[in-house]
Amino acid sequence: MDSASPTPVLAISLLVGLFMVASASNFYQDFYITWGDGRSKILNNGELLTLVLDKASGSGFQSKNEYLFGSIDMQLKLVPGNSAGTVTAYYLSSKGSTWDEIDFEFLGNLSGDPYTLHTNVFSQGNGNREQRFHLWFDPAADFHTYSILWNPQRIVFSVDGTPIREFKNAESKGVPFPKNQPMRIYSSLWNADDWATRGGLVKTDWTQGPFTASYRNFKANACVWSSGATSCGLSGSSSSTSTTSNAWLSEELDSTKQDRLKWVQSNYMIYNYCTDAKRFPQGFPPECNMS
Ligand SMILES: *[C@@H]1O[C@H](CO)[C@@H](O)[C@H](O)[C@H]1NC(C)=O
Repeated sequence: MDSASPTPVLAISLLVGLFMVASASNFYQDFYITWGDGRSKILNNGELLTLVLDKASGSGFQSKNEYLFGSIDMQLKLVPGNSAGTVTAYYLSSKGSTWDEIDFEFLGNLSGDPYTLHTNVFSQGNGNREQRFHLWFDPAADFHTYSILWNPQRIVFSVDGTPIREFKNAESKGVPFPKNQPMRIYSSLWNADDWATRGGLVKTDWTQGPFTASYRNFKANACVWSSGATSCGLSGSSSSTSTTSNAWLSEELDSTKQDRLKWVQSNYMIYNYCTDAKRFPQGFPPECNMS
């Protein structure tokens, strides 16, 4: 009798774990469609979300929860074929005139030409911290995982587990760091052919529309903000958080990840504000000198 007793306990905790993983990727549970007049859809019982852009409008969605720090994964499959002029934005943002924001933006391109992945970090309303990349795969051919690790020490942008950018907390050098304002997750697909592709030279080809970007497997190991307090756990689920670890709250890049980051930055980075001397004749922003 005694030797059999641990089994039901283990079974129950496994079930709780499975339930939390399953519920973590339900778009009905975690997101609202916010605009686009029915163009955006949640499909397959909440497992898939699509954003659609046609000549009349784009579309978008946002998270129900506000987060204050998190390790957040989403799989995206971008507009395939001739996506020139389209922009798919996937970002975290707070509200107000001194907002914080962490951005992924995918700028479409002609068939066969590479997408540009644009990143930026705003703190207290100030951005101007762009880094841009090409990817080592076609982001429209299949789903890939785009992740934001946001903890009090750093913000890390990753693609399929490979870090592409690290923005360290540089408060000691007087640079504000996003850490007091809870943020929602937002995404939208819209037409930006006045600037997005080759600086606006290539226009959206509406005969190729409507354009669709797809989302699945959302997973947030995050601290959910509610009435002035946070509770940390998987997907901000109200059930027990004992099955998840909050190690991400102090996570840093190990040497393997630092090597991967260097590989991406030397082979796939196409713009870095920290090396744009023309833009900063008085010297680079202080966070650029953090090794
Ligand atoms: C589109 O492709 C051109 C040619 O390869 C490239 O220069 C550009 O960076 C790509 N991305 C955008 C968004 O224009």
